[in-house]
Amino acid sequence: MRTVATKDELRAALAPARREGSRIGLVPTMGYFHDGHLSLMRRAREDCDVVVVSVFVNPTQFGPAENLDAYPRDLERDRELAAGVGVDLLWAPDAEEMYPEGFASAVEVDASLTAVLDGDPERRGPSHFRGVTTIVAKLFNSVQPEVAYFGRKDAQQAVVIERMARDLDFPVRVEVLPTVRGADGVALSSRNSYLDAGERERATAISRALRTAERAVADGERSTAALTERIAAELREAGIEPEYVEARDAGDLTPVSELNGRPVLVAVAAPVGRARLIDNVVVTQPETETK
Ligand code: PAJ
Repeated sequence: MRTVATKDELRAALAPARREGSRIGLVPTMGYFHDGHLSLMRRAREDCDVVVVSVFVNPTQFGPAENLDAYPRDLERDRELAAGVGVDLLWAPDAEEMYPEGFASAVEVDASLTAVLDGDPERRGPSHFRGVTTIVAKLFNSVQPEVAYFGRKDAQQAVVIERMARDLDFPVRVEVLPTVRGADGVALSSRNSYLDAGERERATAISRALRTAERAVADGERSTAALTERIAAELREAGIEPEYVEARDAGDLTPVSELNGRPVLVAVAAPVGRARLIDNVVVTQPETETK
């Protein structure tokens, strides 16, 4: 596996593959790999001839209240893990490479997708997703992958990126893969490194509450308010005060009050200790009733 830092080195490293018409797959990340990241890389390895992983802790998607410097980083360890799953090229640019002096542009997806849930102005705000779409557009343009891999764990991010790629005609197929969880059910996240043992135990309530909601749907619950209230109550019992628990259409993020046969995203954000954790499930009304 090669590691490159600059866009010129990246372009040179990919030139032979591009000439030969090889299928290039990209896994964009902010590093500090866990099994969620590795699952995307393994899938890219299966699907593609050349697997590129980018590692860049993108400053423009961090809000003023979020500590960019505290975000965990360990490029040596990331290199070993990526090499272990057969990644060909690790691209780890610095901030100057991605946002040189005079950088003045942005890619923005409509507020209906980016000013709700995590993008609500009371929460992280839409500038978070503007940072994400701007950097992902730059990564797409530099790598020019045929396929790019994202995790369902960040469901809203995946919806926003799929929409950006579609609206702006990026010639890339966006693949969204399932959330990878620890043995205790907690969705893997680089931010879990902020949790101590007690907080990790408390965090298990989030995936438990989401599973309860899935079971309630299987048992016939149709009201999304009933589902979200139940999740919030279960979290509070475990000592977690959720920032939000919301049910929205999994495709366009519009609010949904009754399950309607379309996939519905049930999403949670909650602070646990120093970490702000997010998790979700997608539920659909059982098929027998929609016929
Ligand atoms: P990061 O948080 O490093 O995540 C990189 C990719 O891994 C994202 O697509 C994310 O959804 C996926 N991922 C994270 N945890 C996962 C889990 N438990 N199971 C499955 N997939 C998981 O998301 C970002 O970086 C950035 O916003 C980025 C897209 C790179 C733009 O800067």
